[in-house]
Amino acid sequence: MKALVKRTAGPGLELTDVDVPQVGPGEALVQVKQTGICGTDLHIEAWDDWAASHVRAPLVVGHEFSGVVVEIGESVTDVSVGDVVSGEGHLTCGRCRNCRAGRRHLCINTRGIGVQIDGAFAEYVAMPSGNLWVHEHPIGFDVAAIFDPFGNAVHTALTFPMLGEDVLVTGAGPIGILAAMVSHHAGARNVVITDLSDQRLELASRLGVDLALNPRTRTLQDAHDQLGMKEGFDVGLEMSGSPVALRGMIASMTHGGRIAMLGLPSDEISIDFATVVLNMLTIKGIYGREMFETWYAMSVLLQSGLDISGVITDRFDHTEYEQAFATARSGHGGKVIMNWEK
Ligand SMILES: NC(=O)c1ccc[n+]([C@@H]2O[C@H](COP(=O)([O-])OP(=O)(O)OC[C@H]3O[C@@H](n4cnc5c(N)ncnc54)[C@H](O)[C@@H]3O)[C@@H](O)[C@H]2O)c1
Ligand SMILES: [Zn+2]
Ligand SMILES: [Zn+2]
Repeated sequence: MKALVKRTAGPGLELTDVDVPQVGPGEALVQVKQTGICGTDLHIEAWDDWAASHVRAPLVVGHEFSGVVVEIGESVTDVSVGDVVSGEGHLTCGRCRNCRAGRRHLCINTRGIGVQIDGAFAEYVAMPSGNLWVHEHPIGFDVAAIFDPFGNAVHTALTFPMLGEDVLVTGAGPIGILAAMVSHHAGARNVVITDLSDQRLELASRLGVDLALNPRTRTLQDAHDQLGMKEGFDVGLEMSGSPVALRGMIASMTHGGRIAMLGLPSDEISIDFATVVLNMLTIKGIYGREMFETWYAMSVLLQSGLDISGVITDRFDHTEYEQAFATARSGHGGKVIMNWEK
């Protein structure tokens, strides 16, 4: 089968032939239909310090996918051949304290497909059947392929109560925009999003965010004034990884405000902890998706009318992977997906 492979420790990827994965007991084989390109894939392609210390070549990359189950291994009862699925790319150990308590997203031994284990940028991917999310309702393979980042957004946006709240989202990348849409759908009063890319801000506005602003030209105080807000933001969703954005968020929260932080700073950062203390702010780190409560929430959000398809702005065939990666790297559009159907 064709697969996008990191052949050796160094920059670049290769579209090449590899064996179709064997299906072991408890596993299922999925014929991949569509895949999403994530920031993690860009790190692995470029082979930066993070990739060099976390990824071992050779490796089939990619973790965001949709597809159809074509084979099941021994003792698999939870998925069937023909099921339309997305995949939870974090494989948990099942044995640590958190796993055994049902808090699998907090597993201390997590391994990721497309990072430590062969992934989904391929015609077929094999994984434990329990990591597959079966779509019970009709869904496009494109939207199903972005359930992983959609899940990051849902996990973050639904961490704190949303109903009636004024919400600040910093970072209008695909996940920031998705989080803003989820916040709106979950009953937030005002949703403000910030980014340095005007193109991304335009996309966010088109997709229903109340106010999209570029901190280079407008301040968060302008947002307060324009929306008639009196006391600061109730909920902050940090989706940029930028120290400047986090500091601005901390300064514009109401007393008792809550910040859910998904954005991953690349270095240590300093913040004004006196404000955190005096204003009694909560800052909670968010990783991945809750297994599988976030997945349930994603499916029912779509069934209750949330349409996230507009976040997908660029579509390529897998043979055009170089262009697809370059588009994702440009940082001006929404989600980039690659097709693996023949
Ligand atoms: N914790 C997790 O499990 C997890 C999972 C996936 C992604 N992430 C992280 O979440 C973040 C969002 O993911 P994404 O794929 O949407 O990323 P992305 O890089 O596409 O988007 C980040 C956006 O932040 C914007 N930005 C940079 N500086 C800013 C500033 N000062 N103010 C406002 N916006 C600013 C950038 O212009 C960019 O559009 C990234 O930091 C990513 O590394 C975390
Ligand atoms: Zn991802
Ligand atoms: Zn575990």
